[in-house]
Amino acid sequence: MRDQAANLRYKLQRMNSMKKGKTISVVSGKGGVGKSNVALNFALELIQYKKKVLIFDLDVGMGNIDILLGLQAEQTIVDMFTKQLSIYDIIESGPKGLSYIAAGTGLTNFFALDQTKIDYFFQQYDQLIEVYDYIIFDMGAGITQDSLLFIMASDECFVVTTPEPTSITDAYSMVKHILNNKKNMPIYIIMNRTPSLKDGKKALERFQRVVSQFLGVTIHMMGVLPDDKVVTNAVMRQIPFTLLNDHAMVSKAIRQVTRNYITDTSDANKQDPFTFVQKLKHFIKR
Ligand SMILES: Nc1ncnc2c1ncn2[C@@H]1O[C@H](COP(=O)(O)OP(=O)(O)OP(=O)(O)O)[C@@H](O)[C@H]1O
Ligand SMILES: [Mg+2]
Repeated sequence: MRDQAANLRYKLQRMNSMKKGKTISVVSGKGGVGKSNVALNFALELIQYKKKVLIFDLDVGMGNIDILLGLQAEQTIVDMFTKQLSIYDIIESGPKGLSYIAAGTGLTNFFALDQTKIDYFFQQYDQLIEVYDYIIFDMGAGITQDSLLFIMASDECFVVTTPEPTSITDAYSMVKHILNNKKNMPIYIIMNRTPSLKDGKKALERFQRVVSQFLGVTIHMMGVLPDDKVVTNAVMRQIPFTLLNDHAMVSKAIRQVTRNYITDTSDANKQDPFTFVQKLKHFIKR
């Protein structure tokens, strides 16, 4: 019979050999700052690095990833619960091999799931972690007590803001709220819709300094995306902006942001050994 230490070693080895995807929540304080566009185009850029990526629209009731893709989802996360489908039944195919789960409508209090539904979600989600390198949650604006659980259980949070003072103050409140709940949550800030890259960089540095000074935490400056009419065109034509115009300023910028991110996080040792589901269970038990 194995002794306890050997058993633990065996379990750890097994855990390390299993593919464990990273779950990233894309959030914002203020609404309409570009979360869905950022999440979608970042997901598409990750695919260029041969990563298997799933974008999960969790803005239930108001989701629009399928609209931004110009696709009509046959099933949504709402159907998974109402029709007792497996998570594989609701995964849809997007461009470049991107997988997505649409948010659907009709379950407006989605996050207030009862225990049976939460258990079902756990069970289903657990399978995805072994299949995808990245699972990206496109969240609604702001935070509720229930959506907080999903954000907290993610491995990382991307906070999207614009340089407008109202957006910055809401982003700051969001960062503070996340850190109050989980001091060591890795937070990446994306400054979107900046008049120029230079202005954006300044705003980003200022934001990082304020968070460091008042919250005592160093957040990652993920990058700057310029205000670019290509985004509006892409939304109107229902084609992700990186696919509509690969050479646009904003497309180049998101490519750079993704490159920074991949280089920054390529150190496999940084990976948290606990899966999304393990962390979600932990937060629910608290
Ligand atoms: N970099 C950009 N340049 C120009 N316009 C932009 C840019 N980013 C976003 N927009 C505009 O902002 C709109 C809202 O973007 P998006 O839907 O991605 O925001 P959101 O944060 O997901 O909104 P919500 O809070 O409603 O989920 C887009 O339709 C587009 O018109
Ligand atoms: Mg959105």
